[in-house]
Amino acid sequence: MKLSPRLLKLAYLVPRNSILADIGTDHGLLPIYLICTGHIQRAIASDVKEGPLEQAKDNVERFGLTDNIELRLGNGLSVLEPSEAETIVVAGMGGQMIVDILSNDLAVLRKARRVLLQPMTDASLVRRWLYDNGFSIREEELVKEKHFIYEIISAGQGQESIDREILFEVGPRLFEKKGALWLEFIGYKLRVYETIMAELKNSSETERVTRYAVLIEELKELLEYDRDSS
Ligand SMILES: C[S@@+](CC[C@H](N)C(=O)[O-])C[C@H]1O[C@@H](n2cnc3c(N)ncnc32)[C@H](O)[C@@H]1O
Repeated sequence: MKLSPRLLKLAYLVPRNSILADIGTDHGLLPIYLICTGHIQRAIASDVKEGPLEQAKDNVERFGLTDNIELRLGNGLSVLEPSEAETIVVAGMGGQMIVDILSNDLAVLRKARRVLLQPMTDASLVRRWLYDNGFSIREEELVKEKHFIYEIISAGQGQESIDREILFEVGPRLFEKKGALWLEFIGYKLRVYETIMAELKNSSETERVTRYAVLIEELKELLEYDRDSS
């Protein structure tokens, strides 16, 4: 089976042999891939909707993995008992939805060794939530698929210090690493915020306008500095 580049990158971040919970599994392809490749042996795959879980069930049966993957219907982390899963994945949803899922069941989250998050939007909200709730960002990856650049965040237990506002936006580990997609990623973020700014041009939401104006300036500075030094 073939995973998309986004899911493949996510798969590499799952610690080997850990018990995985894939929350919002949809098709179930991530746990299926990880078990088929011998990366892990056991997973719980959940979804809040019956349709996607049925699709996951069909796929799990097709690959003969009914003994390895347990399917559960339910909202967010409520399908898990604390300590049941060592690695928790919440991927392919908006940042606010991910934050809601994490906030609703902190007791479960506190027992996980790794939390892998892949917000489709508002990654800064997710990073801020992790910081405010005593989690540290261990690794971050970027992956490009078609015209999108996706952010993947791997977090663990323990407070870290993030002393610059812009790091919530661009990711502290991405900032340190400055990998192959870094400049393209900053340019991409800049375009997204400039588009939002253009839409807000005549709006009375002065607080938002000021926040985006500051972000745009900081992203421009980063882009210029890193372009000059690369
Ligand atoms: C766009 S799919 C992402 C699937 C997969 N995780 C991925 O990254 O490709 C989002 C899935 O999350 C499920 N979902 C949304 N909110 C959820 C929640 N609160 N708890 C569990 N699943 C949820 C949806 O039903 C949907 O199947």
